[in-house]
Amino acid sequence: MINIILFGPPGAGKGTQSNKLIEKYNLVHLSTGDILRSEISNKTKLGLEAKTFIDKGELVPDEVVIGMINTKIEANKFANGFIFDGFPRTLPQAIALDALLNQRNIPISGMIALVVEKEELIKRLLNRGKDSGRTDDQDIDIIENRIKVYNNETAPLAEYYDKQNKYKGINGIGTVDQIFDRVCSEIDKL
Ligand code: AP5
Ligand code: MG
Repeated sequence: MINIILFGPPGAGKGTQSNKLIEKYNLVHLSTGDILRSEISNKTKLGLEAKTFIDKGELVPDEVVIGMINTKIEANKFANGFIFDGFPRTLPQAIALDALLNQRNIPISGMIALVVEKEELIKRLLNRGKDSGRTDDQDIDIIENRIKVYNNETAPLAEYYDKQNKYKGINGIGTVDQIFDRVCSEIDKL
């Protein structure tokens, strides 16, 4: 069993790398952003509520995303392991995730952080915004807010996992394949 948190700011490449990692290591991809977007496109009550936060670049309330992750872990009892992408994003989420995994005896193996500077993040997100349909990619103010929220609420989680000796930062600049090699070499050390 291997459980990886793929960490990093908006546009760091978490989703891109997750798609390659799930194939190589036969893991289940749990992206709270993807789950929320699917709720939005299905026009569920949860989706409509979440949209009001996502469209401003704010975080959806902790209890909503923690509930979603709990359901997904429960639904994948026989998984080889999980890649957590975009979760946890706050200290209460990290504490809840540790509790959920520890009670099942499947703790986090490591957090791998993709380090990318702000200018590059903005460039990538605006570029994707041209055709992704993601409303939060199309406006520089919303992108800036996502990065600000990340720096204030999410970045401190690096220290939370570092205290457990589980944090590893890697250079998130380069080609997708170069970065994939860096991520894999960290996973292979776990
Ligand atoms: P979420 O969907 O998680 O978005 P995000 O964290 O803002 O990050 P992105 O998905 O935009 O970036 P990414 O790191 O996955 O990069 P990607 O691979 O796509 O969250 C969206 C919203 O949902 C949040 O703002 C919040 O409202 C809500 N939410 C989600 N989870 C939540 C939680 N836990 N708690 C509360 N609220 C939550 O790449 C980005 C672009 O760059 C792509 O176009 C890609 O092709 C390109 N790219 C990738 N790698 C490279 C490379 N090496 N070089 C050049 N371009 C690259
Ligand atoms: Mg993503």
